Amino acid sequence: MCGIVGFVGTQPAPGEVARSYFALDVVLEGLRRLEYRGYDSAGVAVVADEQVAFRKKAGKVAMLEAEIEAAPLPDSVLGIGHTRWATHGGPTDANAHPHVVDGGKLALVHNGIIENFSELKSELVAKGHNFVSETDTEVAAALLAEAYRELGDLSAAMRAVCKRFEGTFTLLAVHADVPDRIVAARRDSPLVIGVGEGENFLGSDVSGFIDYTKQAVEMANDNVVTVTAAGYEITDLDGNPAEGKPFTVEWDAQAAKKDGFDSFMDKEIHDQPAAIRDTLLGRFDENGKLTLDELRIDESLLRSVDKIIVIACGTAAYAGQVARYAIEHWCRIPTEVELAHEFRYRDPIVNEKTLVVALSQSGETMDTLMAVRHAREQGAKVIAICNTNGSSIPREADASLYTHAGPEIAVASTKAFLAQITATYLLGLYLAQVRGNMFADEVNAVLAELRQIPEKVQQVIDREDEVKALAENMKDASSVLFLGRHVGFPVALEGALKLKEIAYLHAEGFAAGELKHGPIALVEEGQPVFIIAPSPRGRDSLHSKVVSNIQEVRARGAVTIVIAEEGDTAVNQYANHVIRVPQAPTLMQPLLATVPLQVFACAVATVKGYDVDQPRNLAKSVTVE
Ligand code: M6R
Repeated sequence: MCGIVGFVGTQPAPGEVARSYFALDVVLEGLRRLEYRGYDSAGVAVVADEQVAFRKKAGKVAMLEAEIEAAPLPDSVLGIGHTRWATHGGPTDANAHPHVVDGGKLALVHNGIIENFSELKSELVAKGHNFVSETDTEVAAALLAEAYRELGDLSAAMRAVCKRFEGTFTLLAVHADVPDRIVAARRDSPLVIGVGEGENFLGSDVSGFIDYTKQAVEMANDNVVTVTAAGYEITDLDGNPAEGKPFTVEWDAQAAKKDGFDSFMDKEIHDQPAAIRDTLLGRFDENGKLTLDELRIDESLLRSVDKIIVIACGTAAYAGQVARYAIEHWCRIPTEVELAHEFRYRDPIVNEKTLVVALSQSGETMDTLMAVRHAREQGAKVIAICNTNGSSIPREADASLYTHAGPEIAVASTKAFLAQITATYLLGLYLAQVRGNMFADEVNAVLAELRQIPEKVQQVIDREDEVKALAENMKDASSVLFLGRHVGFPVALEGALKLKEIAYLHAEGFAAGELKHGPIALVEEGQPVFIIAPSPRGRDSLHSKVVSNIQEVRARGAVTIVIAEEGDTAVNQYANHVIRVPQAPTLMQPLLATVPLQVFACAVATVKGYDVDQPRNLAKSVTVE
């Protein structure tokens, strides 16, 4: 939550023609790219002529840009910016970042929560400090200014105040007295350094500076970095030199653009065949054998596992639920799936034989990160499945497997979901291979099915107009229900979540078998119900049970929209609408059946005129608990 960006470039030499871009250009571009992390308000500060100049505004980055156009900022080669998801204090101009203190000389932007801020605030109030906002950030800024006055060194001051802060934070500070540097710190909130030539960058993630460099550096927790145009210096909170971990960004700036689509969500739905293909890429040796080299985890350890717990939140947790069916089926290891925030507070039974799989697109979800820490403290081994290089969860896990979905910008997760299912399937098959639960030809048969999925997803996407027409018809529904069994159940939950989060429509997903235990009472004349029908070529009892469920809701007046595979004629007589997906084995079906539900939600939100990519009250990356 909240996006942060910083830029330090080289001052033009005397007489040199103006630079082609200044701090403001870089920072605003970075904010536009990071806006998915929060969009309640935005602000920038630049340092020029030994003064801090800033603008901040409630609303999206576009509002800030209008403000700057009306009241331009000076050219500068040093700047910081922020796009906010409000925690302390509402989304007002006053609460927007940067917070500027010390007679207008120090500006600070912040992502996270300083938990002991009210205690620190009382201390400062007692000393006569006046606050103009309700934020914890202004308290941090005031404390930093005080430490700077005392120590005369911005980096030392940052280290000193970070020792006093409890909670999570990324902080970026500039001071008019030292106009050549940004001093930044992080604890449990994301921050990466971008390394350019004669210019350097900071960002909540690499999209903050991807237009300028692909060379990035991860920073450990409780480290402070001082960034100038010439380089960067990292220390721990005691001032001891610390190392960053360099990496090269694998995707380019184009990947984070809409590419002619109306929304990022729409584009990302269309990216899905590539996301699955790329996640499968490079995971096989020359003989076609599955080799997850990047895991770097001892095979004997994988053989000793007697329980798997998948931890995740939101859509990632639904991917985990899908994975459970596959992993238990292939590996015969009891597998639980738990929301990360519940896992942590439940006193779960975890030991050194437990394998915890943490699923996260961003790799920064605080609930999941805390659950990872908890699991490791209990002796479990943690494998992170993440989409974002250099993020906290893979950094703290024992081993990582990356999905290669490319940047996911829309708040509603789409391609990450399919890539997560793909990666968990690879992990499940690998475990089965290592533990001897499956023969090589059995593993290969599943992999062959998996390799066909990108093409089949494309076929589903090619029929999106039918789903869009349905969305147009149903835009006035006040509630939509989703039913599924087996792997269709998490697909139903995901379909409902998509609709809630971007179309603000009441939607519920149910296990179809649960219907008669209560939810069927919701069904009345005209109630739209999506049903995910399993393949009739799979377990027959599963298919026939779902067909009965379709009849049951239809008999009570529901408008039934059935997602069924090609050739499944048994559903026809009970379906008001049938959405066809290509034939695939049961475990592969979520990778296909989810796609029309994503298209449907995106289309309903679009028809209703909502901001598909930036739904109200949400942020892409939930970096607070
Ligand atoms: O980055 P993560 O995968 O850890 O995010 C988890 C959830 O916050 C995320 O999937 C959320 O539910 C999405 N907005 C759903 O579309």
